[in-house]
Amino acid sequence: MKKIILTILSVCFFTGFLLAQDKHNITVKANKPGAEIQPTMWGIFFEDINMAADGGIYAELVKNRSFEFSKPMDGWTVQPVGDRPYQPFQKQFGEGTVVIVNREDKNAVNPRFIRITTNNATKDSLGLTNEGFRGMGIKKDMRYDFSLMYRNKTPGLKMHVELVDSTGTVLGSTMFTPREADGNWHKQAETFTANATEAKAKLTIWFEGSGIIDLDMISLFPEDTWKNRPGGLRADLVQMLADLKPGFVRFPGGCIVEGRELATRYQWKKTIGPVEDRQLIINRWNTEFASRSTPDYFQTFGLGFFEYFRLAEDIGAEPLPILNCGMACQFNTAEVATLDQIDPYLQDALDLVEFANGDVNTQWGAVRAKLGHPEPFNLKMMGVGNENWGPQYIDRFKIFQKGLKEKYPQLKIIASTSAEYQGERFNYLNTEFKTLQPELADEHYYNSPSWFLQNTARYDNYDRSGPAIFAGEYAAHSSHTGNTENKNSLRTAVSEAAFMTGLERNADIVHMASYAPLLARVDAWQWKPDLIWFDNLNVYATPDYYVQKLFSNNKGTNVLP
Ligand code: AHR
Repeated sequence: MKKIILTILSVCFFTGFLLAQDKHNITVKANKPGAEIQPTMWGIFFEDINMAADGGIYAELVKNRSFEFSKPMDGWTVQPVGDRPYQPFQKQFGEGTVVIVNREDKNAVNPRFIRITTNNATKDSLGLTNEGFRGMGIKKDMRYDFSLMYRNKTPGLKMHVELVDSTGTVLGSTMFTPREADGNWHKQAETFTANATEAKAKLTIWFEGSGIIDLDMISLFPEDTWKNRPGGLRADLVQMLADLKPGFVRFPGGCIVEGRELATRYQWKKTIGPVEDRQLIINRWNTEFASRSTPDYFQTFGLGFFEYFRLAEDIGAEPLPILNCGMACQFNTAEVATLDQIDPYLQDALDLVEFANGDVNTQWGAVRAKLGHPEPFNLKMMGVGNENWGPQYIDRFKIFQKGLKEKYPQLKIIASTSAEYQGERFNYLNTEFKTLQPELADEHYYNSPSWFLQNTARYDNYDRSGPAIFAGEYAAHSSHTGNTENKNSLRTAVSEAAFMTGLERNADIVHMASYAPLLARVDAWQWKPDLIWFDNLNVYATPDYYVQKLFSNNKGTNVLP
């Protein structure tokens, strides 16, 4: 009853707000409960945009830890800098002291590493500095876990690991002496505690002694990750998501699913297992908007599909993966896999269900168990494509629907309705869906606050013969996308709230909704507005966030006429 009352209150509040001073009587028939509001009604949309994953919720502090960015030394500087008549790169990098080696023939997924050659180096004579993601956020008295992969043949080389602030003051340090000298790759970790808080720290590794050492996967994580998991997620950001009590987590996007071209589409199988085996690719948002170019934006997949499933489980939400169906982004290359090449794409989808739900004796269930989660993740739904449209989408959707339903009849399938919520593309797909009857159709609306206010009744008289609605991406934009003036505000938040009353009122057909995008770094965004903003040390909720929280935390059980 408490929840029903809260629902009534929120309807009354927003209706009252919108009608300003007009006097209206609202009659609520509390004894005539209508449609059930789905437990999944209010969820979250996660996409690695605005540095949401690398440089964001994935707590790794070292940028370009495996030297796989297009420019292998991106984020790294050879030390000392500035006391020589030439740039250190000219002298040291590529000339024998510091060399990037490519072993693609032996390791296609993590081909590069760095080779350091020293001859009687003293501490401070040769070092490697990592700048982090626009600095590293370091907290006083926090433990930091430094680790790397190394290979050397002769013992004797030591490393001094230091966190420093902008003035060079050391905030914490440790010694790193390789334990093995057998010419094989080894992983080793050391921990140390920071003595001060600093938003823009850097990490330097100084080399001492003589020898040749190969390094890869140079990494630094804080101790206070979510649930204190080593190599985990930023706890403050996950807490913000948990506080929303979302009904589902949609991942990994968004356009990330599609890729600018098929080669850079999201492939979940490449995102699980040891992090050093997860092949890095460029993030599509690196180059998407010329005015917001982010050359250091890549996907390491440290936050991969296993972590996404576990995140959803941790915060009590249903997992909702969206998979590529053989189509790259139609706003970019629009590449498609031909229909006779679709099998591997469908197989990825089938295998994902087995990965999430399969018994530990199945091939992919065993992989999940090996990763530490023998219990199933209880995957119940899957999206086929993101913002895809046209007959080419329908052709591929049919193959996915048939293949998935044959093997997993209970799985709910979510279809794309293009990037539009009306017009030719949208209407064509909706007509097809009347026949194909996917369980849900994914509608997206990015529009002005006025549009949201004027469309609160969008679903009141909606055709109820088709799929249920997943309002999979929406946000009120105060200006056009990419414009710096496009901001979160009380106005955008209240207009979304008004619209959301219309979604909830039509809970018989609107089963799910998620604001988008979710996260944005204040100094590395490509798209705004966004629900939650953060920097290296802080997290900031927007008015739009509080609207989501208000609705989600006070979700009613039934709609009342
Ligand atoms: O939310 C940002 C982008 O908007 C998503 O990646 C895409 O699906 C939509 O166009």
